[in-house]
Amino acid sequence: MRILVTGASGVVGTEVAERLAADAGPGGIVRTARRAAGGDSGPVPWNIGAEAAPEPLTGRPWDVIVHTAASTRWTMSRQEATDANIRTLRAVLGLAGPDTHVVHVSTAYVGGVRSAEDLRGEEFEGYRNGYEWSKAVCEEIVATEHRGPATIVRPPLVLGRRGDGLINRFSGPYSLFPALVTGLAAVAVGDPDGYAEIAPVDEVAEVIAQAALGTAPGAPRTEVISAGEDSMRLSDLVRITCETLNAFRAEHGVDPIAQPPTVSTDSWNRFFLPLAAQWLSPVQQEAVRLLAMFQSYTSMSRPFEPTHKVADPGGVMAAAVRHWAQSKPRQALGRTVPWTMINAA
Ligand SMILES: NC(=O)c1ccc[n+]([C@@H]2O[C@H](COP(=O)([O-])OP(=O)(O)OC[C@H]3O[C@@H](n4cnc5c(N)ncnc54)[C@H](OP(=O)(O)O)[C@@H]3O)[C@@H](O)[C@H]2O)c1
Repeated sequence: MRILVTGASGVVGTEVAERLAADAGPGGIVRTARRAAGGDSGPVPWNIGAEAAPEPLTGRPWDVIVHTAASTRWTMSRQEATDANIRTLRAVLGLAGPDTHVVHVSTAYVGGVRSAEDLRGEEFEGYRNGYEWSKAVCEEIVATEHRGPATIVRPPLVLGRRGDGLINRFSGPYSLFPALVTGLAAVAVGDPDGYAEIAPVDEVAEVIAQAALGTAPGAPRTEVISAGEDSMRLSDLVRITCETLNAFRAEHGVDPIAQPPTVSTDSWNRFFLPLAAQWLSPVQQEAVRLLAMFQSYTSMSRPFEPTHKVADPGGVMAAAVRHWAQSKPRQALGRTVPWTMINAA
């Protein structure tokens, strides 16, 4: 079986390629990444959408294409998201034939409930941001423009492996941990009882690998990875993160950080945000923007309905935080600087 994996240097792609190599054998899969050195054993360099597909990838259609490459930046404009994720998907589909099984990695957040209070929903047709909007468009393209079998895999926020917390890059949700230590995340915005869905990267890779190696579906199939009703709530996420960071700090004789209070989305948008522009430093304003983007991801009123259930998400969270702290001890053991208003002095 010839399998192509795009985005093979990313959080999900690295894990998927490793998992697939175990079953398909290293020769059975070909990996691509934008920034790759090339050579016999590494990923094939391909800046998808900006360059034509390089020769080793063209010629005959693939049995399976696992498409993980994407820009996950939440701040993209529609045009940026179109270039980064929609144009790239169409270029990848150009390598597929009518029998190619396309396993497209999407995000669980194209489904589920979205809050009417979300700040940028209108601009992106009800989606939270340009990234999410582009992922929804991509699902539509896979369903309508690919002539062969297709599986859509929708993970929630992806953290490190179950057990040891290992992950290839600290991106996305990991920005919350240093923000909590330094005090930039001075409050948790959202509903304390709202659902905060996460999945460990090894289980996400397992679902993708099983789809890639299994029988191609007759009709497009969607796999949702989620803890469902057993999902953490926002209050669990903040408590487990702070407790794990504080256990690490105690082992190193460093004072604990305080658990930030939770502010409802409504109060945040109506009272705190208007003040922020006027009183906070540029760094603090950046933190405000970051917190505003997390709010609807970490306080959904309903969990997703899983086809693959994530057990004990709190344990996954703790392992991820601990691995981050062990990898970034200076940040994890850093000092909390309380927020001050720039005009206060
Ligand atoms: N991480 C999450 O929390 C999460 C949650 C839900 C869904 N997902 C989905 O999972 C997939 C993988 O996400 P990730 O977190 O693994 O992202 P990531 O760590 O940022 O990796 C993205 C990968 O895609 C490659 N890439 C991006 N744009 C490219 C382009 N134009 N041409 C060629 N390669 C390109 C990157 O290559 P370079 O490194 O060389 O730029 C990298 O290998 C995405 O489809 C994302 O939507 C992720």
